[in-house]
Amino acid sequence: MDVLLRANLPVGDGALDGVALAMGGRPTPFGMDPDRIEDCLALLASPGFERLRLRGIHAHLASGLPATELLRLAERIVGWSAGLAARHGFPLHEVNVGGGMAVDYADPEARFDWTAFGRGLADLLDRHPALGTLRIEPGRALTAYCGWYATEVLDVKHSHGEAFAVVRGGTHHLRTPATRGHSQPFTVLPVDHWPHPWPRPTATGTRITVSGQLCTPKDVLAARAPVAELRAGDRLLFAMAGAYGWNISHHEFLMHPRPSFHYLDDGA
Ligand SMILES: Cc1ncc(COP(=O)(O)O)c(C=O)c1O
Repeated sequence: MDVLLRANLPVGDGALDGVALAMGGRPTPFGMDPDRIEDCLALLASPGFERLRLRGIHAHLASGLPATELLRLAERIVGWSAGLAARHGFPLHEVNVGGGMAVDYADPEARFDWTAFGRGLADLLDRHPALGTLRIEPGRALTAYCGWYATEVLDVKHSHGEAFAVVRGGTHHLRTPATRGHSQPFTVLPVDHWPHPWPRPTATGTRITVSGQLCTPKDVLAARAPVAELRAGDRLLFAMAGAYGWNISHHEFLMHPRPSFHYLDDGA
């Protein structure tokens, strides 16, 4: 079996300070420290491990980096791996520099600069001709933009001077904004029909916090987001919900109903 050893390289110069999710470059449960990698190499070269073939190194250190920073990190990973291979005399068939391409939830139109990243990787490969495969792990940057989450506004209320919209869904359906601490971007879909005899709860020209039905103040999909008008009974359509949505959420929290799923094609 072919194996890559997952390395947690120290990145002590602040290169990962601003990232939303760091899986390495500091103490984390992911990967091995460089000295453990060296121990592992000795183990792989010892009798009894013949069925494991060392192909190279894997390092996924962070999520959410722009192309320039991610390239700088890739250079460090490849440079370190090449040095390790030279010191230990093994052929470096593959380096996997992980993923973590930036997705900016505060700017839904922004896109990771794939062209600059591709050029940089090609240049990196040119500088390491002995390296057979340079692998990347694109994550949310491929799919985040392909999913939406729609939910109904149950109530609009005010508390100590701030406006809140309570929606039928919540972080048990879409947990990422709560775990990363961002506001999920949304659009208001107005629903004019109001079937009840009592006045319709409304917020106008204000910032509003969108929370779900769970009994925790952490059930927040968007914090203090500006709205022109939002009424109970309107729908909210959250964008950028195509990655880390349903599949990382705590579905059974308070056992609320699950959402329904609809798949759109291009009409062909
Ligand atoms: C090993 C590995 N590679 C790539 C990714 C992709 O990261 P993201 O979707 O944040 O870009 C992850 C995410 O956790 C990961 O664990």
